[in-house]
Amino acid sequence: MERTFREQLFVLLLSLSVLKGDCRYMENNEISKDELYSFFNSELKREAPEELMFRRPLRCLDMIAVEGRFTFTAERPQLSCAAFFIAEPNEVITVDYDGVDIDCSGGDFITVFDGWVMKGEKFPSSQDHPLPLYERYVDYCDSGSLRRSVRSSQNVAMVFFRVHNPGSTFTLTVRKHINPFPCNVISQSPEGAYTMVIPQQHRNCSFSIIYPVEIDISEFSLGQINHFTKRSRPACAETGDFVQLLGGNGIDTSKLLPITDLCVSFTGPTHLKVGCDNTVVRVVSSGKFVSRVSFSYRLLDSQELQTIKLNNVEDFCFNN
Ligand SMILES: *[C@@H]1O[C@H](CO)[C@@H](O)[C@H](O)[C@H]1NC(C)=O
Repeated sequence: MERTFREQLFVLLLSLSVLKGDCRYMENNEISKDELYSFFNSELKREAPEELMFRRPLRCLDMIAVEGRFTFTAERPQLSCAAFFIAEPNEVITVDYDGVDIDCSGGDFITVFDGWVMKGEKFPSSQDHPLPLYERYVDYCDSGSLRRSVRSSQNVAMVFFRVHNPGSTFTLTVRKHINPFPCNVISQSPEGAYTMVIPQQHRNCSFSIIYPVEIDISEFSLGQINHFTKRSRPACAETGDFVQLLGGNGIDTSKLLPITDLCVSFTGPTHLKVGCDNTVVRVVSSGKFVSRVSFSYRLLDSQELQTIKLNNVEDFCFNN
Protein backbone atom coordinates (compact mmCIF):
# COMPACT_ATOMS: atom_id res chain seq x y z
CA MET A 1 0.00 0.00 0.00
CA GLU A 2 1.10 3.54 -0.66
CA ARG A 3 2.27 4.68 2.73
CA THR A 4 3.37 8.15 1.80
CA PHE A 5 -0.10 9.36 0.83
CA ARG A 6 -1.46 8.46 4.24
CA GLU A 7 1.58 9.76 6.09
CA GLN A 8 1.40 13.07 4.28
CA LEU A 9 -2.27 13.34 5.19
CA PHE A 10 -1.61 12.55 8.83
CA VAL A 11 0.91 15.37 9.03
CA LEU A 12 -1.57 17.73 7.42
CA LEU A 13 -4.51 16.58 9.48
CA LEU A 14 -2.48 16.93 12.65
CA SER A 15 -1.82 20.56 11.82
CA LEU A 16 -5.50 20.87 10.94
CA SER A 17 -6.51 19.74 14.40
CA VAL A 18 -4.08 22.28 15.87
CA LEU A 19 -5.81 25.00 13.93
CA LYS A 20 -9.21 23.78 14.95
CA GLY A 21 -8.19 24.07 18.58
CA ASP A 22 -7.99 20.41 19.52
CA CYS A 23 -6.82 20.76 23.13
CA ARG A 24 -4.50 17.77 23.00
CA TYR A 25 -2.26 19.80 20.73
CA MET A 26 -2.91 23.30 22.05
CA GLU A 27 0.00 23.31 24.49
CA ASN A 28 2.73 22.84 21.97
CA ASN A 29 1.62 25.01 19.10
CA GLU A 30 2.82 28.40 18.04
CA ILE A 31 -0.44 30.29 18.33
CA SER A 32 -0.05 33.22 20.74
CA LYS A 33 -2.83 34.58 22.93
CA ASP A 34 -3.16 37.66 20.74
CA GLU A 35 -3.54 35.52 17.69
CA LEU A 36 -6.11 33.38 19.42
CA TYR A 37 -8.02 36.49 20.38
CA SER A 38 -8.07 37.80 16.83
CA PHE A 39 -9.05 34.33 15.68
CA PHE A 40 -12.13 34.38 17.95
CA ASN A 41 -12.99 37.79 16.62
CA SER A 42 -12.84 36.63 13.05
CA GLU A 43 -14.97 33.64 13.92
CA LEU A 44 -17.60 35.90 15.46
CA LYS A 45 -17.75 38.19 12.51
CA ARG A 46 -17.40 36.28 9.30
CA GLU A 47 -16.40 39.17 7.09
CA ALA A 48 -13.90 40.46 9.60
CA PRO A 49 -11.95 43.56 8.65
CA GLU A 50 -8.36 42.69 7.89
CA GLU A 51 -6.92 44.11 11.10
CA LEU A 52 -9.09 41.75 13.16
CA MET A 53 -8.35 38.65 11.13
CA PHE A 54 -6.46 35.70 12.50
CA ARG A 55 -2.82 35.97 11.49
CA ARG A 56 0.06 33.62 11.52
CA PRO A 57 3.13 32.75 9.48
CA LEU A 58 2.64 30.42 6.55
CA ARG A 59 4.78 27.29 6.62
CA CYS A 60 6.36 25.66 3.58
CA LEU A 61 4.04 22.67 4.02
CA ASP A 62 0.80 23.86 5.55
CA MET A 63 -2.83 23.01 6.08
CA ILE A 64 -5.30 25.82 6.69
CA ALA A 65 -8.92 25.43 7.74
CA VAL A 66 -9.64 28.92 9.08
CA GLU A 67 -10.01 32.36 7.58
CA GLY A 68 -7.05 34.63 8.12
CA ARG A 69 -3.89 36.27 6.85
CA PHE A 70 -0.91 33.99 6.36
CA THR A 71 2.52 35.46 5.66
CA PHE A 72 5.40 33.52 4.22
CA THR A 73 8.91 34.87 4.65
CA ALA A 74 11.79 32.80 3.33
CA GLU A 75 14.85 32.30 5.51
CA ARG A 76 16.52 30.22 2.82
CA PRO A 77 15.60 29.02 -0.68
CA GLN A 78 12.36 27.02 -0.53
CA LEU A 79 11.85 25.25 -3.82
CA SER A 80 8.88 23.02 -3.19
CA CYS A 81 6.18 24.38 -0.90
CA ALA A 82 2.44 23.77 -0.76
CA ALA A 83 -0.38 25.07 1.41
CA PHE A 84 -3.66 23.15 1.44
CA PHE A 85 -6.89 25.01 2.24
CA ILE A 86 -10.11 23.35 3.33
CA ALA A 87 -13.51 24.77 4.29
CA GLU A 88 -16.89 23.29 5.23
CA PRO A 89 -18.65 21.27 2.49
CA ASN A 90 -21.03 24.16 1.71
CA GLU A 91 -18.29 26.78 1.40
CA VAL A 92 -15.85 27.94 -1.23
CA ILE A 93 -12.55 29.68 -0.57
CA THR A 94 -11.03 32.91 -1.86
CA VAL A 95 -7.30 33.47 -1.75
CA ASP A 96 -5.98 37.02 -2.17
CA TYR A 97 -2.31 37.88 -2.48
CA ASP A 98 -0.66 41.01 -1.24
CA GLY A 99 2.71 42.31 -0.13
CA VAL A 100 4.29 40.06 -2.72
CA ASP A 101 8.06 40.39 -2.96
CA ILE A 102 9.37 37.48 -5.01
CA ASP A 103 11.67 37.18 -8.01
CA CYS A 104 9.43 36.09 -10.89
CA SER A 105 12.19 36.44 -13.48
CA GLY A 106 14.50 34.35 -11.30
CA GLY A 107 12.12 31.38 -11.32
CA ASP A 108 10.06 32.09 -8.20
CA PHE A 109 6.33 31.45 -8.39
CA ILE A 110 3.13 31.44 -6.38
CA THR A 111 0.36 29.45 -8.03
CA VAL A 112 -3.15 28.98 -6.72
CA PHE A 113 -4.84 25.74 -7.77
CA ASP A 114 -8.61 25.32 -7.82
CA GLY A 115 -8.68 22.00 -5.94
CA TRP A 116 -6.03 19.81 -4.36
CA VAL A 117 -3.09 18.08 -6.01
CA MET A 118 -1.41 15.24 -4.17
CA LYS A 119 1.20 12.94 -5.67
CA GLY A 120 0.25 14.20 -9.11
CA GLU A 121 -3.45 13.41 -8.69
CA LYS A 122 -6.12 16.10 -8.69
CA PHE A 123 -9.35 16.62 -6.86
CA PRO A 124 -11.85 17.28 -8.39
CA SER A 125 -10.74 15.10 -11.30
CA SER A 126 -10.50 16.86 -14.64
CA GLN A 127 -13.69 15.07 -15.70
CA ASP A 128 -15.75 16.46 -12.84
CA HIS A 129 -14.45 20.03 -12.69
CA PRO A 130 -16.37 22.77 -14.52
CA LEU A 131 -13.16 24.47 -15.74
CA PRO A 132 -10.53 23.12 -18.12
CA LEU A 133 -7.34 22.17 -16.28
CA TYR A 134 -5.22 25.15 -17.39
CA GLU A 135 -7.82 27.59 -16.02
CA ARG A 136 -7.59 25.96 -12.60
CA TYR A 137 -4.03 27.22 -12.14
CA VAL A 138 -3.61 30.95 -11.50
CA ASP A 139 -0.01 32.03 -11.33
CA TYR A 140 0.95 35.28 -9.67
CA CYS A 141 3.90 35.88 -11.97
CA ASP A 142 1.85 35.33 -15.14
CA SER A 143 -1.18 37.32 -14.09
CA GLY A 144 0.75 39.85 -12.00
CA SER A 145 -1.38 42.51 -10.45
CA LEU A 146 -4.26 41.68 -12.81
CA ARG A 147 -5.67 38.92 -10.64
CA ARG A 148 -5.09 39.37 -6.96
CA SER A 149 -7.98 37.20 -5.88
CA VAL A 150 -8.77 33.63 -6.81
CA ARG A 151 -12.01 31.86 -5.94
CA SER A 152 -12.26 28.09 -5.67
CA SER A 153 -15.10 26.05 -7.18
CA GLN A 154 -15.39 23.75 -4.14
CA ASN A 155 -14.39 23.54 -0.45
CA VAL A 156 -10.71 22.89 -1.18
CA ALA A 157 -7.96 24.89 -2.85
CA MET A 158 -4.20 25.07 -2.59
CA VAL A 159 -1.18 27.24 -3.26
CA PHE A 160 2.16 26.04 -4.59
CA PHE A 161 5.15 28.28 -4.22
CA ARG A 162 8.86 28.45 -4.82
CA VAL A 163 11.21 31.22 -3.75
CA HIS A 164 14.97 31.35 -4.16
CA ASN A 165 16.06 34.42 -2.20
CA PRO A 166 16.09 34.72 1.59
CA GLY A 167 13.79 37.57 2.60
CA SER A 168 11.28 36.91 -0.19
CA THR A 169 7.80 37.34 1.20
CA PHE A 170 4.09 37.38 0.46
CA THR A 171 0.79 37.32 2.35
CA LEU A 172 -2.28 35.27 1.53
CA THR A 173 -5.69 36.31 2.80
CA VAL A 174 -8.02 33.34 2.99
CA ARG A 175 -11.78 33.80 3.23
CA LYS A 176 -14.71 31.42 3.09
CA HIS A 177 -18.02 32.05 1.33
CA ILE A 178 -21.27 30.12 1.29
CA ASN A 179 -21.75 27.87 -1.73
CA PRO A 180 -25.48 27.22 -2.19
CA PHE A 181 -24.91 24.29 -4.58
CA PRO A 182 -21.87 22.35 -3.44
CA CYS A 183 -20.89 19.68 -5.93
CA ASN A 184 -17.41 18.31 -5.24
CA VAL A 185 -16.36 18.10 -1.60
CA ILE A 186 -13.51 16.71 0.49
CA SER A 187 -14.65 15.95 4.03
CA GLN A 188 -12.65 17.70 6.75
CA SER A 189 -13.50 15.04 9.24
CA PRO A 190 -13.47 11.20 9.33
CA GLU A 191 -16.93 11.23 10.84
CA GLY A 192 -20.13 12.90 9.76
CA ALA A 193 -23.29 12.87 7.69
CA TYR A 194 -24.05 14.54 4.42
CA THR A 195 -26.78 14.92 1.83
CA MET A 196 -25.72 15.52 -1.75
CA VAL A 197 -28.29 17.15 -4.00
CA ILE A 198 -27.82 17.75 -7.71
CA PRO A 199 -30.57 20.07 -8.93
CA GLN A 200 -31.22 18.98 -12.53
CA GLN A 201 -27.71 19.66 -13.68
CA HIS A 202 -25.86 17.55 -16.18
CA ARG A 203 -22.81 17.06 -14.04
CA ASN A 204 -21.27 14.51 -11.70
CA CYS A 205 -20.48 15.34 -8.10
CA SER A 206 -18.17 13.59 -5.64
CA PHE A 207 -17.96 13.58 -1.87
CA SER A 208 -14.53 12.34 -0.87
CA ILE A 209 -13.61 10.99 2.56
CA ILE A 210 -9.84 10.62 2.82
CA TYR A 211 -9.92 8.03 5.56
CA PRO A 212 -10.86 4.34 5.76
CA VAL A 213 -14.49 4.45 6.88
CA GLU A 214 -17.68 2.59 7.45
CA ILE A 215 -20.29 4.24 5.28
CA ASP A 216 -24.03 3.96 5.60
CA ILE A 217 -26.16 5.13 2.70
CA SER A 218 -29.39 5.95 4.48
CA GLU A 219 -31.48 7.29 1.65
CA PHE A 220 -31.36 8.06 -2.02
CA SER A 221 -33.83 9.38 -4.49
CA LEU A 222 -32.71 9.25 -8.08
CA GLY A 223 -34.46 10.03 -11.29
CA GLN A 224 -35.17 7.03 -13.47
CA ILE A 225 -35.94 6.48 -17.10
CA ASN A 226 -39.16 4.48 -17.23
CA HIS A 227 -38.77 2.21 -20.21
CA PHE A 228 -37.33 -0.85 -18.56
CA THR A 229 -40.55 -2.74 -18.01
CA LYS A 230 -39.40 -5.80 -19.95
CA ARG A 231 -36.00 -6.11 -18.33
CA SER A 232 -36.16 -6.65 -14.64
CA ARG A 233 -32.55 -5.78 -13.66
CA PRO A 234 -30.99 -3.24 -15.98
CA ALA A 235 -27.49 -2.01 -15.17
CA CYS A 236 -27.46 1.17 -13.11
CA ALA A 237 -25.86 3.22 -15.88
CA GLU A 238 -28.87 2.53 -18.13
CA THR A 239 -31.57 3.52 -15.69
CA GLY A 240 -30.99 7.26 -15.40
CA ASP A 241 -29.10 8.88 -12.56
CA PHE A 242 -27.09 6.70 -10.22
CA VAL A 243 -24.71 6.73 -7.27
CA GLN A 244 -21.25 5.19 -7.39
CA LEU A 245 -19.32 4.17 -4.33
CA LEU A 246 -15.62 4.30 -5.20
CA GLY A 247 -12.45 3.47 -3.32
CA GLY A 248 -8.70 3.66 -3.75
CA ASN A 249 -5.55 5.23 -2.45
CA GLY A 250 -5.29 8.47 -4.46
CA ILE A 251 -7.49 11.56 -4.68
CA ASP A 252 -8.41 11.49 -8.39
CA THR A 253 -11.92 10.04 -8.47
CA SER A 254 -11.55 9.00 -12.12
CA LYS A 255 -8.75 6.62 -11.06
CA LEU A 256 -10.63 5.02 -8.18
CA LEU A 257 -12.22 1.62 -8.47
CA PRO A 258 -15.97 1.02 -8.23
CA ILE A 259 -17.12 -0.72 -5.05
CA THR A 260 -20.78 -0.67 -5.93
CA ASP A 261 -23.40 1.26 -7.92
CA LEU A 262 -26.71 2.28 -6.43
CA CYS A 263 -29.79 3.06 -8.48
CA VAL A 264 -33.49 2.21 -8.68
CA SER A 265 -32.79 -1.48 -9.20
CA PHE A 266 -30.32 -1.66 -6.33
CA THR A 267 -30.87 -4.39 -3.75
CA GLY A 268 -27.46 -4.85 -2.09
CA PRO A 269 -26.18 -3.67 1.26
CA THR A 270 -26.11 0.05 1.99
CA HIS A 271 -23.78 -0.47 4.92
CA LEU A 272 -20.16 -0.95 3.94
CA LYS A 273 -16.71 -0.91 5.48
CA VAL A 274 -14.14 0.41 3.04
CA GLY A 275 -10.50 -0.03 4.02
CA CYS A 276 -9.20 2.44 1.45
CA ASP A 277 -7.38 5.73 2.04
CA ASN A 278 -10.07 7.45 0.00
CA THR A 279 -13.76 6.57 -0.12
CA VAL A 280 -15.95 8.50 -2.53
CA VAL A 281 -19.69 8.83 -3.03
CA ARG A 282 -20.22 10.04 -6.60
CA VAL A 283 -23.53 10.97 -8.16
CA VAL A 284 -23.74 10.62 -11.93
CA SER A 285 -26.46 12.97 -13.05
CA SER A 286 -28.09 13.22 -16.45
CA GLY A 287 -29.56 16.64 -15.67
CA LYS A 288 -33.10 15.39 -16.23
CA PHE A 289 -33.88 14.84 -12.58
CA VAL A 290 -33.15 16.15 -9.12
CA SER A 291 -30.93 13.55 -7.48
CA ARG A 292 -30.29 13.21 -3.80
CA VAL A 293 -28.29 10.84 -1.63
CA SER A 294 -27.84 10.89 2.15
CA PHE A 295 -25.14 9.02 4.01
CA SER A 296 -23.20 8.93 7.24
CA TYR A 297 -19.67 7.69 7.90
CA ARG A 298 -17.23 7.00 10.70
CA LEU A 299 -13.56 6.10 10.92
CA LEU A 300 -12.61 2.42 11.01
CA ASP A 301 -10.37 1.52 13.92
CA SER A 302 -7.17 -0.46 13.40
CA GLN A 303 -8.80 -3.71 14.48
CA GLU A 304 -11.57 -3.33 11.89
CA LEU A 305 -8.97 -2.55 9.25
CA GLN A 306 -7.06 -5.66 10.22
CA THR A 307 -10.21 -7.77 9.92
CA ILE A 308 -10.97 -6.40 6.46
CA LYS A 309 -7.41 -7.12 5.47
CA LEU A 310 -7.62 -10.73 6.66
CA ASN A 311 -11.08 -11.51 5.33
CA ASN A 312 -10.93 -9.88 1.94
CA VAL A 313 -7.64 -10.91 0.45
CA GLU A 314 -8.92 -9.58 -2.85
CA ASP A 315 -9.81 -6.18 -1.51
CA PHE A 316 -8.10 -3.86 -3.96
CA CYS A 317 -7.10 -1.43 -1.24
CA PHE A 318 -4.82 -4.04 0.27
CA ASN A 319 -3.44 -5.58 -2.84
CA ASN A 320 0.01 -4.11 -2.78
C1 LIG B 1 -20.64 11.68 -15.68
O1 LIG B 1 -20.06 10.42 -15.50
C2 LIG B 1 -20.47 9.46 -16.48
C3 LIG B 1 -19.94 8.11 -16.04
O2 LIG B 1 -18.68 8.20 -15.38
C4 LIG B 1 -19.96 9.91 -17.84
O3 LIG B 1 -20.35 8.99 -18.82
C5 LIG B 1 -20.55 11.30 -18.15
O4 LIG B 1 -20.02 11.78 -19.36
C6 LIG B 1 -20.25 12.27 -17.03
N1 LIG B 1 -20.97 13.51 -17.27
C7 LIG B 1 -20.40 14.70 -17.23
C8 LIG B 1 -21.28 15.87 -17.47
O5 LIG B 1 -19.22 14.84 -17.04
